[in-house]
Order: sequence, then structure tokens, then C-alpha cells
Amino acid sequence: MMRRTRAAAAASAASVLLLLAGTPAHALAPTGGTVTAPDPYFPLSGNNGYDVRHYDLDLDFTPATHLLDARATVRAIADRSLSTFRLDYSGPEIQQVLVDGRPATYRRNGQKLTVVPVRPIRAGAAFTVLVRYRGTPERISDPALGDYGWINTPDGAVALNEPDGARTWYPLNDDLRDKATYTFRITTPTGVTALANGEPDGPPQDRDGRTTVTWQMRKPMAGYLSMVAIGDFKVTRTTDGGIPNITAYDPTGGDDALLHPTTAEAVAWERQRFGAYPFDSMGGIIDQVGVGYALETQSRPVYDGGTDELTVVHEMAHQWYGDSVTPGTWRDIWLNEGFATYTEWLWQEDHGGPTVQQVFDTYYAAPADDPFWHLKTGDPGRDNMFDYDAVYLRGAMTLQALRTTIGDHDFFQLLREWARTHRYGTADTRDLLDLAEKISHRRLGPLFDAWLYTAAKPPLPH
Ligand code: ARG
Ligand code: ZN
Repeated sequence: MMRRTRAAAAASAASVLLLLAGTPAHALAPTGGTVTAPDPYFPLSGNNGYDVRHYDLDLDFTPATHLLDARATVRAIADRSLSTFRLDYSGPEIQQVLVDGRPATYRRNGQKLTVVPVRPIRAGAAFTVLVRYRGTPERISDPALGDYGWINTPDGAVALNEPDGARTWYPLNDDLRDKATYTFRITTPTGVTALANGEPDGPPQDRDGRTTVTWQMRKPMAGYLSMVAIGDFKVTRTTDGGIPNITAYDPTGGDDALLHPTTAEAVAWERQRFGAYPFDSMGGIIDQVGVGYALETQSRPVYDGGTDELTVVHEMAHQWYGDSVTPGTWRDIWLNEGFATYTEWLWQEDHGGPTVQQVFDTYYAAPADDPFWHLKTGDPGRDNMFDYDAVYLRGAMTLQALRTTIGDHDFFQLLREWARTHRYGTADTRDLLDLAEKISHRRLGPLFDAWLYTAAKPPLPH
């Protein structure tokens, strides 16, 4: 599903020229479809010419050898006539590519897979791409962003894709604006547990010493939020507040009694503040991953080695802010991390901790020449996209500055309306400014500029 944002529309005229490089001219001919600008931080990710509706990932994985034998089916709609198209993919060796059931020519070039179907796909047509591949996927180890993508663990594997790691284990259109629904069909030796986003579809099927489980994510999902976790897990299932809650932990890390009830409590509390929970189930997975961070994978975050109450509150807040409402580009990562960090502060205030204003004041005390202020929260740069000071803390402080400016009534209305208006889609900072101005009847451009687009300590709002 591709939504064309206002920002993308403005940028697309210029970007069409950029996109011409490396793509046969005939594939670009009359547009009229969803041509969008590349991500400023990940310009190689994302592809034009089609809109993915569904991914069907059939994964056979053996922990002892870390061998993945996979078939990925991508169902998409062509938004113009396509004699060739590209996917993001840097996974194991490909055996075959079929388009609508017919063998297609393909070539790999870096992180791109170019497919040439036997006959061009008609504009507006639905088509399916089946990619068969086999081998051991490898993680990305980035000097600035750390380890992500497909991570092999001693007893299995876990996929943590933020920001552009999904291509390490399946071919996709890795554009935040092209969300799709997912089916995961995971086969392992019997006795191994396999989890993914969403809900199980029927009981596990045993055959010849192997077990297949199917998970469905029925709400649109960006590729970076897709997840599988395979290994030895203890699984807990309940229904809390009407929502299925499925959590799992790797028992080699010890019992983790906190995850399951805390997930239910965080979601109950967040539903009251932010409005309806966006997905059909909730949960969480604790695995021994070794990457050093937790990730808000859709409906069911992954925690590395263990968790605590505030981390669960943070990752479940992302279900509204990040997963359901997703930034259109990574430049707006503060919309994810600022909102999730702000939620931690609200939770603490409501559970006997310091007030949000006290937390704000503590960080605001950093002197003007402190490196705390030296990046732009609203455009920290690719290598600083997870900078804790600039993106997480100053992102949350921006929301507190906004709250003190427009007042509690309008601020909490804004949080709810933001989640409701942009549910399952993408939105950018400009959209937040527009909505905040509409609700508060104030001009907020200068406040956003000072807090987001200036690499300096902003004045206190009044
Ligand atoms: N989004 C995650 C969080 O909220 C952090 C992910 C960090 N990812 C990475 N590749 N370093 O905490
Ligand atoms: Zn976060």
C-alpha cells in the first residue's frame, strides 16, 4: 500500500530525474502512478513503479546449521507499465524468480534485485513475484547503527530490521510509504518454536519431524517492523482487555515474569491516553540476541536479554507512534523516538515518579554549549538517527514544549488525533505541525523551528 504524501508529491518532480540513473528508460515512461522520492538517509532503499499489497514468506529454517530455505511471494499492483522492476534484497543465493508463474530474468547488483518478466506488466495490473532462495542470511554490522537484519543466535535466529535490514532475509520494497500485510509460514525441526508479528493462523502442523506454524499480520506494516524469532522459547498466551497477548522468552536467560503482565498493563494504560490499540494482538519476545537494543516490531517487540517496565512502555507506545503512524522518511525518526520517550515520562509521572516537567527541566539545564544540543532533532543525519540526546530526549522535550504552549487539553487531543488520522499510514513533521495548529488555533512554526530544526539550545516556550 503506497500513500503519496504532500512532501513526496512536491519532491517527486525533481526526484524522477535522479531515479532515471540505472533504470531502463522504457520502465520510467509515462508515470501518473506512485513515484516517490528516495529516502534522504537511505537513498538506495525503495522502488517505484508498483505498490506491494502482501508478502507471503515461506521460511524453512534449521537452527543447527542456520540454513534458510525460503520462498517469498510478493503481491503487488503495477502503477505503470513495467518491462522491468526492482526489489531491495541482499540475502542468500537466489534459485529462481517467477513473475505470475513464469520464469523471469533477474540480476543482482549490491542491495538491488532487478527482475525482467517475459512480458511487460500492464499498468494497473496485479502481479505476483515468487523468489526462491537458500543459504544463511547475514546481519548488517554498521559502524553507526550497530547490528541489525537477520541475526543468527545459538538456538535459532531473530530478524530485527530497523532501519533497512529486511533485505537481508527477503526481497521487498523497503520504502516506509509502501506498507503491506504479511503471512509468515515458518518450518523448523519439531520442538523448535517460531514466532512472528501478528496472530497464529491455526495450530502448528507436524510432518516428517518438522513443524510449520503460520502467523498473519493483517494490518499494514512497514518492512522494518517485520520480525521472526526462532529458537527455544517459553510462550505465554492470555487475552487482556479483549486483545490476545502472546509473549515468549528464551529460558536460557532465566525466567522473565515481568514481560507478559507489563505488556498488558502498558497497553491498557496507553489505550486510555492514545485511543484504540491499532493491531489485533500484542506481545513481546525476550531472546539472547546480543545487539544491545529492543525493537518495536509490529504488535510484538523484541527485547535483547531481558527488559524492564519503562522499556516495555516505550516499545508498546511505538505501536501507535512509529508502527501504526510511521514517518514517511527516516529524517523524521524523532516522531518515533520522541513520542515513545515522552510516553515513558508520562507513565513515570502517573506511577509515583518525577513529573514530566521535572524531567524536562533536568535536561533543559544543559548549558547552551553542551553537545546535548549540537544536532538537529528533526534532521539528525543518517549516522545519528538513534542519537539518544538529540532524537529520544530532545524529541520528547519538543513534545513537552508543545504541550506547555498549547495546553493539556489541546495536547492530549493532538496525541489522539495524530494516532487516529494517520492510522496505518505515514505522516511527517509538517503534518504534525498542521494538526497542532488546527487544534490549537496558534501559529507553531517558530516553535517547531527552534526545537527541531536548529542545532542550538532553544528558548523556553511561554
Ligand atoms: N527503535 C529502537 C528503540 O526504540 C531502537 C533501534 C536501534 N536500532 C539500531 N539499528 N541500532 O529503542
Ligand atoms: Zn524507540
